[in-house]
Amino acid sequence: MKDLIFENIKVGYVPDTEVVINNKKYLIHNVIDGETISVDINSKYPTLKEVLKKSEHRIDYKPEECGGASFMHIDYPYELKLKEEHLNDLFKGFRLDNKITVIGMDKPYNYRNKTTMTYKLSKTKRIVCGLYEDYTHNVITANNNILQCEKANVISNEINKILTKHKISIYDEKTRSGVLRHILIRYGFNSNELMVVFITNGEMFPGRGNVINDLKKLNLGITTIVQNYNTRDTSIVLGDKERVLFGPGYIYEYVNNYKFKISPKSFFQVNTEGMEKIYNLAISSANIDKNDIVIDAYCGVGTISIFASKYAKHVYGVELNRDAIGDANINKKINNINNVTFICDDATNFITKLAKNREHIDIVIMDPTRDGSTKAFINAIKYLNVKKVIYVSCNPETLKRDLYQFIENDYIVKNITGVDQFPRSLHLECVCYLEAKDIKKENTKKYNENKLRYIPKADIEMMREDLYERTNNKNQKKFR
Ligand SMILES: C[S@@+](CC[C@H](N)C(=O)[O-])C[C@H]1O[C@@H](n2cnc3c(N)ncnc32)[C@H](O)[C@@H]1O
Repeated sequence: MKDLIFENIKVGYVPDTEVVINNKKYLIHNVIDGETISVDINSKYPTLKEVLKKSEHRIDYKPEECGGASFMHIDYPYELKLKEEHLNDLFKGFRLDNKITVIGMDKPYNYRNKTTMTYKLSKTKRIVCGLYEDYTHNVITANNNILQCEKANVISNEINKILTKHKISIYDEKTRSGVLRHILIRYGFNSNELMVVFITNGEMFPGRGNVINDLKKLNLGITTIVQNYNTRDTSIVLGDKERVLFGPGYIYEYVNNYKFKISPKSFFQVNTEGMEKIYNLAISSANIDKNDIVIDAYCGVGTISIFASKYAKHVYGVELNRDAIGDANINKKINNINNVTFICDDATNFITKLAKNREHIDIVIMDPTRDGSTKAFINAIKYLNVKKVIYVSCNPETLKRDLYQFIENDYIVKNITGVDQFPRSLHLECVCYLEAKDIKKENTKKYNENKLRYIPKADIEMMREDLYERTNNKNQKKFR
């Protein structure tokens, strides 16, 4: 059948366009608003055949190098413009003090400091590693991925050759047999330290000695090698147990003159440049006074707490993950910080306790996961009479939902700024600044204690397990 032509197509934030063929709707990917395209309708799903009238923002790309990069075909300034329009549309009606702008990155390519890839055998029985295709378990090879740091690309390609040379057995998801499942590479852009983690289906790793020796001989700058065992039948990447094969088993990274320890399982923002920009914006928005008591909720390994400690009287960092709190306490020590306390608890539970005890808190900085925060957390902030809230969000949709709750609780959403933590992908980080309406006149007693709810201990354990699953799962929920 002949190709179909679609003229002057309409494309929203996600660079797809909807076409109707024989009364059925299909999405055609990698297009730009206003283009004219031809569509091949001879396969099961219609696909983009040719762009007949190209947008001035279209750039060349190699699909095999672009796993995870939905904006690969669009120039970076236009991507930032699309991101700004998307955020301004989403938060239309919030009566912000500012038009939302998005802070771009100096380095929009090869920025990821953490790479996780999955192994498979090619049809010709060569060992290859790649990324999961979005929302599936199909592995797409990623030899020179434009998002991963260059070091990770070089190392993963060399490792593939070494694994093939020593005929290392590759894990098969269907039969659950074979050894090597994934590889994790973490790089400290500022420290130049490099960690390689082999994730295997159990403790056995035949050929391990040969692989490690060959890898060390290449002098690729690897400072530590770890083996992690994962026998679970899921797409979760890391298992609980690990064994250090070379070096200390962790790396350090420097951000704004602070030093952070990163273990294989620690959460650390994936874009070091973006992280610095987000934290600087969050701290400057908070305008912390030397008498202020600050909460850093969802604090991970304590990075924001440590940044805030310089300006505040005291900072409380709260985090559910026990490993992260372990690292946070080490980070506090190695940076000689004395005015931060880290607490391992559910953030809602912790803040509810403070509210019930009528503690004094001046500022809350919160940085929850993509799911956002809880109504009970936001109610406790109101009950505590917190003056200022800085909400760092990696999901604008859940940010919007939570902001409605803040507004209901008499907070004013003053401004929102986007930070392009994840260039070339659809994801976006936001830093939002809120103020209590009129702190003096406000009568907090009307917020009776029934609004403050504790979470039962058993539920917190379930949340921990669920969090572990979500943060380690490569096959994430669909972006909306
Ligand atoms: C987006 S990360 C932010 C971490 C940190 N602020 C940073 O910049 O590295 C969200 C953190 O929230 C933690 N978390 C998830 N659910 C939580 C909960 N219910 N209570 C406390 N922390 C939670 C996760 O373990 C993760 O470390």
